[in-house]
Amino acid sequence: MMMTNLLVDKAESFIHLYCREMNISTHEKDERLKEIQRDIEITGTYSHTASELQFGARAAWRNSNRCIGRLFWNSLHVVDARTALTKDEVKKALLNHIEYATNDGKIRSTITVFAPREDNKDAIRILNHQLIRYAGYRGENGEVTGDPHSVTFTKFCESLGWRGEGSKYDVLPIVAQINEGEPFYFSIPSSIVKEVPITHRGIPGINELELKWYAVPIISDMKLEIGGLEYIAAPFNGWYMETEIAARNFADEKRYNELPSVADKMNLSTQLSSNLWKDRAIIELNQAVLDSFKQAGVSMVDHHTAGSQFALFEEKEANAGREVTGDWTWLIPPVSPAASHIFHKRYKNTWNSPNFLYQPSFLKSQTEPAPNKKSCPFS
Ligand code: ARG
Repeated sequence: MMMTNLLVDKAESFIHLYCREMNISTHEKDERLKEIQRDIEITGTYSHTASELQFGARAAWRNSNRCIGRLFWNSLHVVDARTALTKDEVKKALLNHIEYATNDGKIRSTITVFAPREDNKDAIRILNHQLIRYAGYRGENGEVTGDPHSVTFTKFCESLGWRGEGSKYDVLPIVAQINEGEPFYFSIPSSIVKEVPITHRGIPGINELELKWYAVPIISDMKLEIGGLEYIAAPFNGWYMETEIAARNFADEKRYNELPSVADKMNLSTQLSSNLWKDRAIIELNQAVLDSFKQAGVSMVDHHTAGSQFALFEEKEANAGREVTGDWTWLIPPVSPAASHIFHKRYKNTWNSPNFLYQPSFLKSQTEPAPNKKSCPFS
C-alpha cells in the first residue's frame, strides 16, 4: 500500500487542481481536504466523487505527452464503473463501452473506469492491450498469421480454451480477472465490432490485398492515476489518425509488413530503395485508409489536421496559463514529420498528474509462477 502520507500529498495536490479549475470555493475545498485526510487516516485510502473522477480522467488525457489529439480532452465521456464487481457486470460495462464509443462510426471519446487498486489488491484487471485487437498465430515455420503484436496474448487466450479461426483478422476475446482470480474470457459479438475494408479508388490492385482494420482503438492496459489512486482498469478510446494504421500497423516489418505487397500491386520494383517504393507505397496506403474510413462513415483524422488541432490545443493551454508538456518523438507523425509544426518545436517531457501510465503486464503474472508464492516451504 502507498505510504498514507504520500497518498495524502497526492490527493491534496489533485484536489487543489480540481478546485482551481472547477471554480470551487475555498470553504468547500477545505471541507473536502479534511474529509479526505480523515478517510485516509481511518481506511488507508479515499475515493473520488463522480465529478472528481470525470475531471481527473479528462486532465489525464490533457497531460498525455504522447498524444497529438489532446485538443478534445474536455469532452471525454467518463463512465463510472467502480461498482461493477462481477463477471457479468464487467462484461456488460466493456461491451457497452464498445457500442457507445463506436456509435455506428461517429466515434465518441470514452473512458470506462473500474474500481481502483486498494490495499495492493485489484478488484478488476483487464489483460488485453486493446479491447478490440487482431490475433496473431505463429506457425511452425516461424511466420505469423495475423498481428505479430498479439502473438503472446493469443497463445494465452488459447491456453484458456479460446480458439480463433486462424485468419489474418480474428478479433481476440476480452480477458479479465475479478479479485485477481482465474482469468476468464468472452468473445465480443461481431455485430458490435465495426471494421473498415481498405480500398483504393485509383489503384484497384490494393483492393486485392483485402486489408481491413477495426474502427475504434480502445487502450485497455494502461493505468489511470488520479490524486494517488491507481485505476488499473480504465479502458479509453479516441479515434484513429490514419498513419497509425497505414504507416505503422500495416507497414512495420514487425507488424503486418504489407509494403512489399502494396508495391507489387503498384508495379513498383522493390530491388533498389532509391526509387522510393516504400514511400510511395506508404502514401497510397495512407490515402486508402483515409478514403475507406470516410466512405464507411467512421471518424478518422489525417495527420495534417491533427497537427493543426494540436497547435490549437497549445494555444488554448497557453491562454489558460498552463504549459503543454509533450514527447516529441511520439507527437511527430511518422509520415512527413517535418511538414508539421511539431517537428520544429521542442516540448518538455515531464509527466504531470493525473495521467495514464504504463504498468507491468498482468499477462506475465499469469504465465510465470510467482516466485516463492506457493513454493516457499516456510509459508
Ligand atoms: N496506435 C494504436 C493502434 O494503432 C492506437 C493508439 C491510440 N490511438 C488513438 N488514436 N487514440 O492501434
